[in-house]
Amino acid sequence: MELKIVTDCSGIDWSIIAESLRKVGMAYHSPEVHKRAFEASYTTVFIYDGSQLTGFGRAISDGEYQGAIYDVAVLPEAQGKGIGKVIIQTILAQLPNCNIILYATPGMEGFYKKFGFGVMTTGMAVFTNPEAMRKFTV
Ligand SMILES: CC(C)(COP(=O)(O)OP(=O)(O)OC[C@H]1O[C@@H](n2cnc3c(N)ncnc32)[C@H](O)[C@@H]1OP(=O)(O)O)[C@@H](O)C(=O)NCCC(=O)NCCS
Repeated sequence: MELKIVTDCSGIDWSIIAESLRKVGMAYHSPEVHKRAFEASYTTVFIYDGSQLTGFGRAISDGEYQGAIYDVAVLPEAQGKGIGKVIIQTILAQLPNCNIILYATPGMEGFYKKFGFGVMTTGMAVFTNPEAMRKFTV
């Protein structure tokens, strides 16, 4: 497996991003919406195995002291090979002095704990589609 790390958005097939998010059971939108979201992010990372996009992630941030990670996904057939780790490490390296928040898909908390993330006691959110986000709320 020869991994290539790409951190810019040029040449990305955004329909693959939407389809990959759908495949792994995460919220997905139209390719155009993902394009705008990734391009407006502070940092993005795309991992290729050869010519195949196998994983990606992004963070929004002020670049100074706050950041938030979103859309971290590794295609099912590529999971368990260290690609998720490369995605998170690449994002964290771009946000050296920042507090970083995220919400983990239930069952994925252990993955994020590996990078020092812990559960917040007072995390709060308002969602555009509360029903779809029910698994993230108490
Ligand atoms: C979560 C996800 C990104 C992990 O990617 P991955 O490439 O399979 O993970 P890696 O192989 O890089 O694993 C890195 C480490 O995390 C551990 N890990 C991976 N998934 C884990 C989980 N669900 N729970 C606990 N530990 C986990 C691995 O064992 C490995 O540990 P090690 O470094 O001690 O060997 C991937 O499983 C995925 O895309 N899942 C579906 C989408 C999703 O839920 N994304 C997260 C949204 S919050």
